[in-house]
Amino acid sequence: MTEPRFDLDIFRIIDWYKAAGVDAALDDLPVDWLARGPAAPGQGFAWPDRQHVPTDSAPNAHAPMPRMEALSVAPIKLAQKSSPSQETSSVRPQTPLAASEAETEARRIAATAPTLAALEVALRGFNGCSLKATAKNLCFYRGAETARIMLIGEAPGRDEDLEGKPFVGRAGQLLDKMLAAIGLSESDVHITNVVYWRPPGNRTPTPQEALACRPFLERQMTLVRPEIVVALGGSAAKEVLGISEGIMKLRGKWRTVQVGSNTVTSIATLHPAYLLRTPAAKQLVWSDLIQIKKKLGSV
Ligand code: URA
Repeated sequence: MTEPRFDLDIFRIIDWYKAAGVDAALDDLPVDWLARGPAAPGQGFAWPDRQHVPTDSAPNAHAPMPRMEALSVAPIKLAQKSSPSQETSSVRPQTPLAASEAETEARRIAATAPTLAALEVALRGFNGCSLKATAKNLCFYRGAETARIMLIGEAPGRDEDLEGKPFVGRAGQLLDKMLAAIGLSESDVHITNVVYWRPPGNRTPTPQEALACRPFLERQMTLVRPEIVVALGGSAAKEVLGISEGIMKLRGKWRTVQVGSNTVTSIATLHPAYLLRTPAAKQLVWSDLIQIKKKLGSV
């Protein structure tokens, strides 16, 4: 029988992951999240049995793979059922809330924020959106504190997560160029997303994640006081306009929508990341931008 060639097989597996859209390795070894106990992510918890695999020892096509047992992890210890008194004292600060509980909690803390700075503090203390556990940074907004135009995208990506600001990667740079084409700069606009943390692997946020962030977005809108809200892409349009039609049908039409206590004039357009992949669609966005410019001239 032929021995399996781990050095070749592993690259085939990695290719397979790549083709499936997995673009980020989160860690070298599997994570037993239950072993974390009451410690919240980022609070100095040290994995007891993990072996440090230095980055310079990463496998390459020519080096033999380490023996499998060298990569093994200690067996997972199942949590002992605790007594009721122990349970109250070991509540995990990051235990996910049910979607409705998270929304209620978000509404309670967002409602009292008198300024964007206070809203940011409230967001930093909020643990009801599960995206926070895997993201590096909160991405709240960039641009002016109050603005005539508020642009809302889907979710932060990798660059945004690293920098802690929305739309700073390639899509953001294109967005800035689109705005400049109608005479607007960062200081004229307020840019944010439907969710404030990067979804792992840049997937679309789930309805639960969007719901948990929604009270903050509504409060943000109240504080920014935009005359026009622009939804960027289908996912943001669905969330902001509350319509699930495809973006190609939705875009370019003015609507008056109710977002929490705000009644806003809104339009959806194509997402700049889509334009990077489909430059031919830029002409559609150009006509949306012209409409926005006209509207700003008339309001
Ligand atoms: N795409 C988005 O929808 N938002 C960002 O902040 C970046 C990319």
